[in-house]
Amino acid sequence: MSNISKKKRIFIFCISLVLSFAFIALTSIYFLFLHRYKGRNIVNSWSETDQFDITTIATVEKQKDKDFVILNLADVQICDLENPLIHLTIKREIEYLVQKTQPDLITLTGDQTWSNENLISLTELIRWLDSFKIPYAPVFGNHDYGNEKDSAVASQNYCCDLYERGKYSLFKRGPTNLGALGNYVLNIMEDGKIYKTLYMIDSGFEDKITDMQIAWFKWNADGIKTANNDVYSQSMVFLHKPLPEYAHAYYSLPYSQRTEINKYHHYSLSGSTQNGFFTAAKGAGVTNIVCGHQHGNNFTLQYEDVNLTFALKTGELVGYYSDEEVYMNGATSFILSGDHVEIINNFVDREQFHITKPINEE
Ligand SMILES: [Fe+2]
Repeated sequence: MSNISKKKRIFIFCISLVLSFAFIALTSIYFLFLHRYKGRNIVNSWSETDQFDITTIATVEKQKDKDFVILNLADVQICDLENPLIHLTIKREIEYLVQKTQPDLITLTGDQTWSNENLISLTELIRWLDSFKIPYAPVFGNHDYGNEKDSAVASQNYCCDLYERGKYSLFKRGPTNLGALGNYVLNIMEDGKIYKTLYMIDSGFEDKITDMQIAWFKWNADGIKTANNDVYSQSMVFLHKPLPEYAHAYYSLPYSQRTEINKYHHYSLSGSTQNGFFTAAKGAGVTNIVCGHQHGNNFTLQYEDVNLTFALKTGELVGYYSDEEVYMNGATSFILSGDHVEIINNFVDREQFHITKPINEE
């Protein structure tokens, strides 16, 4: 009798164990991959008649008589369901790039994550970025909050919440009536004066910069101009999708020059279809525009006195391109020195970072 009872107890114990594991596994799957994190829905409508207040713009300090270095990470594209070794490889690559370039600011031109499973990857990426103790400023790409519009586990609002919580993050969600949430402005200050203004523009999911975004951009540029002795501050724009002027600049070159500039010219130059932003930017002190999105492109062309840069893709894989000849991996850095902006492409070595077997993470 006592034997039966012992077997029964073991049986009940085993069943309880299995049910507990199943419960934990199903709960984890639900909260990591199925539940939608909606985030805070903060309504903040902007109007051209609003009073501009320069104190609301975040600032980064530039040391006097020292170059200011921006390291741009483009299309990192990590995903929760990927092999964790890919995350580890990309993390190490970014660490290498930060160590190599010693940036004062890290910008991220969108598609930091991709796919609908973005909760773990974005949380992890923010943790990596905070570990450098260097200010960082991300914009959204077309994949950051889902492969279909706002379809990801972490919604656009929740991604904003996560970025706003980042200890060294300068991200601040912009007005909610511009068509996309990730629009904000930064001023790099030197000796109490504006040295450069950075416009972080959300090129959105639908391939266009809205008229409201352009009006908001001009409102900021004019407000900063007033605070800057009535002169437009020298400025840079960071956004995910290329403006149509990228294609205009590229296709106005002779064919031989095009192939020289862009070895992988079969990759598309297309992006935003909006035609008014470039003109507004050019007229408001913008000297450099930096985008990502097309992983196979990496070049800078001057167009109507504005430098248009396709930033180098960051992360081990080129992504959806399966062409083995293409290995575009690294990050573009911008060395700001006086009025000059030097653009450097920092490639990483595939063999050095490609992790094929598990290793202990320090
Ligand atoms: Fe993209």
